[in-house]
Amino acid sequence: MFSPSSRPSLASDAPIGIFDSGIGGLTVAHAMAQAMPGESLLYFGDTAHMPYGDRSPELVRTYSVRIAQYLREEGCKAIVIACNSASAAATDAVREVAGEDIPVMDVVQPVVEYLAERGVARVGVIGTRATVGSGIYGRSLAEARARREGDAASLHPTVEWPTPLLAPLIEEGWHDHALMEPVIASYLTAAGWLGDGMGAIDALVLGCTHYPLADEVFRRVVGPHVELVDGPGIVAKAVSKALDSRGLRRSDSLPRHQFLVSDLTENFKRSAERFFGEEIPLQPGGPWFKG
Ligand code: DGL
Repeated sequence: MFSPSSRPSLASDAPIGIFDSGIGGLTVAHAMAQAMPGESLLYFGDTAHMPYGDRSPELVRTYSVRIAQYLREEGCKAIVIACNSASAAATDAVREVAGEDIPVMDVVQPVVEYLAERGVARVGVIGTRATVGSGIYGRSLAEARARREGDAASLHPTVEWPTPLLAPLIEEGWHDHALMEPVIASYLTAAGWLGDGMGAIDALVLGCTHYPLADEVFRRVVGPHVELVDGPGIVAKAVSKALDSRGLRRSDSLPRHQFLVSDLTENFKRSAERFFGEEIPLQPGGPWFKG
């Protein structure tokens, strides 16, 4: 663990700051820990203010900016916005706070680049109301395709559909509960991708950091022919590449992770282990903590 007094002086030895509205971003943190085993992570989950997915863009931006300031003050060498809702509302504002020297990555752009690079035509996206309401995936994917292919870019519009019940169910530990399958099927049918719409999409983006926990249920519902896009894995690779290109990778030492939340309850502790895939020392802390 590190504290401001023990803050590493070398930029590459500094932790990667990563934040989410709560504990869903731990799926991204876990993928990053696997992809970059030598890197230290400073994770902050804003459990006191979640869910961001039901908040206004202005409020999500206000919270995100405060968190970015905190991660900067803690000496983080990069900031990863591990929340789709915050990525949609606050990436530009976080970049402004971070300044030129601290790279900022969100969870939307790497997925968009992945889809554009592979020429995936018909894409469906599910996420919170905040993410879907922003239209960020459709807009960014159209831009990325146009950059790569110009006039030949796919004309297929990206369909984005809000699935607000899923994050609370998964948070409750119901990611593999019998209820998940009919709830997911109802949403995907309403979006036009099941039933009569079967075969309407080539890829389904799980545009919320909670959803990968229920990937087996998604797979059963969509069948074998729809690609489920693995956001955390794609984001972890993109972060690793971005750090490499700036000479900020550290790989030869034992990582020191820190996991902070703005409100710590027994339930968050239990859920955090599920999201990270192993036991983690979740502690109260962060920008609003007066401990
Ligand atoms: N982590 C959020 C996201 O990826 C979902 C949870 C919330 O609404 O705060 O959008």
